[in-house]
Amino acid sequence: MTHPLTAITRHLGSIAYGGDYNPEQWPKEVWREDVRLMQQAGVNLVTVGVFSWSRLQPQPGVFDWSLLDEVLDLLHDHGISVDLATPTAAPPPWFTRLHPDARPVTVSGNRLAHGSRQVFCPSNPAYAEAADAIVTELATRYADHPAVVLLHVHNEFGNHNALCYCDISAAAFRTWLRGRYISLDALNDAWGTDFWGQRYGDWQEIDPPRDTTAFRNPGQDLDYRRFSSDALLARYRAEAALLRRIAPGIPLTTNHLGTLEKKVDAHAFAAECDLVSLDHYLPAADPDGHIDLALNADLARGMAAGRPWLLMEHSTSAVNWQPINVAKRPGEMRRNSLAHLARGADGIMFFQWRQSRAGAEKWHSAMLPHAGTNSRVWDEVCKLGADLTILGEVTGTRVEADVALIFDWHSWWALELEARPSVQMRYLDMVRDWYEALWTLNITCDVVAPGSDLTRYKAVLAPNLYLLSEEHADALTRYVSGGGHLAVGCFSGVVDAHDRVHLGGYPGVLREVLGLHIDEYLPLRDGDTIQLSDGSTAALWAERVEPRGCTPILHFADTPDGGPACGGPVVTRHAFGEGTSWYVATRPSVTTLRDLVRHISLEAGLRAAAEVPEGIEAVRRSGPDASYLFLVNHTDDSVKVPVEGVDLLDATGYGSTTEIPAGGVAVIREPQPDQQR
Ligand code: GAL
Repeated sequence: MTHPLTAITRHLGSIAYGGDYNPEQWPKEVWREDVRLMQQAGVNLVTVGVFSWSRLQPQPGVFDWSLLDEVLDLLHDHGISVDLATPTAAPPPWFTRLHPDARPVTVSGNRLAHGSRQVFCPSNPAYAEAADAIVTELATRYADHPAVVLLHVHNEFGNHNALCYCDISAAAFRTWLRGRYISLDALNDAWGTDFWGQRYGDWQEIDPPRDTTAFRNPGQDLDYRRFSSDALLARYRAEAALLRRIAPGIPLTTNHLGTLEKKVDAHAFAAECDLVSLDHYLPAADPDGHIDLALNADLARGMAAGRPWLLMEHSTSAVNWQPINVAKRPGEMRRNSLAHLARGADGIMFFQWRQSRAGAEKWHSAMLPHAGTNSRVWDEVCKLGADLTILGEVTGTRVEADVALIFDWHSWWALELEARPSVQMRYLDMVRDWYEALWTLNITCDVVAPGSDLTRYKAVLAPNLYLLSEEHADALTRYVSGGGHLAVGCFSGVVDAHDRVHLGGYPGVLREVLGLHIDEYLPLRDGDTIQLSDGSTAALWAERVEPRGCTPILHFADTPDGGPACGGPVVTRHAFGEGTSWYVATRPSVTTLRDLVRHISLEAGLRAAAEVPEGIEAVRRSGPDASYLFLVNHTDDSVKVPVEGVDLLDATGYGSTTEIPAGGVAVIREPQPDQQR
């Protein structure tokens, strides 16, 4: 069956290109200029209506479609398709006035005021009723509009309001808990409530984990995260059910923020979308923000199970919500866009089409900046549109990865609850280290949820699995015994789904597959480093590892600067069944980790997408007729790369060498992919 995004790109005739379009911010005269300039830039898809609830329903029960009627027709007349969003992320002021108790309440009991977006409690029934009503009316009106090719549910579920601690949420939490545990005994057992005398005798005694005197119960805290994510998922489902009933032929998506959003389990939402869409914003403080980009793109593709996905939002230049909002350098937006494309995106979209004149995001870049068309950003937007037209033939091709990296929101939540061994062990740091090792080796990976089918991967990396259920541990064990290569980072396999320790020695449910036993975790003091036996330096963490079948391949230095586990194993290898597992009992330098990953890759038979000089990112998309090698030059010099083929963009070829200009991108069409890989 044709994937819904492929059906859309076929309809568009190319890669989807555009952004959020908010015509309600502008007088009508501007709309005509908008569509003319969209055509000039090659825009073929825009997201409409994301925050327009107060325009579409100016009063309770009163709907006004004049704006959308005109805008959708105008877009359609100019050949621009529409991703129609439900406006439910921005309840109107009249709604809050009628339902002041629908405003979310913070952990410390402060009820938030109206005045921004997502001002609603995810569990509030009045909100649900109002949201369902506007979604029903919107879908009924536009289900058959010829411009609409995609429906966009809400916007970034949970971005601002995921965790609400009001009394309505408390009641909904109790209902959710009853569904999960059935009996209070089971709940008391799961949460370990006999500690600190917290045993519950009645469901009504249970509250959200609000601010309290000392540490909260971790099982309760963790379940509140799950409940809160599920409350938003229930809202997704409610809207999706209405849209599917009223507009059955139009695919659904909801945009998520990838690793930028801790509070919702994006895997759960992606599993229920017809196509996966990602919003990604470069962390400006990170000089290697393009690695964060690649990680998130690979996460989106992992969620899409390898199928094409849509980059729903990124920025042409600076954002306005980081502490210092650095403008993108010339060419950077294009590199970012093409790097997403390389990793399987079949659409490149931005927040937003026209930079706002007023409001909270007027200092956020857009496709059409305040300066208008006489600007660097506009020139680059038009150039990118032209490039994407040239690259249209890559749509529908797939990125093939032989290695998976496991990413889990539940483990992230659990690792960063209160009262852990070290507040400096942060989930994303661990993930980033391991991902960066792969990225620098140009080994493409799928970033996947635990419990995913791993059988097709030659290797699996698990940077951190602090929380690991027996079921998922068994799957990893079977994967290795069946011939897979598994590498696991420190402080993994420690607790079950309720944050209860797997007893009998660490790393609990991974002891057998890793062939080792750990009796103590040994976090390091702030700023301390330790030496490893190869002369490299590690940080953050040590463990006392006793081999029970594994072979140590690196040790903590056998001197006092080897730290609290000096002389003991730090990296181990275990032949298990038909496969092999590795364990890393510290936070090594990225260089050491890269060497280890290179070693594992050799054993597992992983290959780089291409052998290229440092600073060149290489990713391949393959299709039945051709494959495309994307080469992104992140350096300030032009670089010669030993690859052959037809470049579709910047590069110049000399025999078997391609030269990519500084900051440029080559997309090499390789006519016989099977022979080249
Ligand atoms: C996204 C959001 C957009 C806009 C953008 C700014 O998170 O969906 O509406 O606010 O951030 O970067």
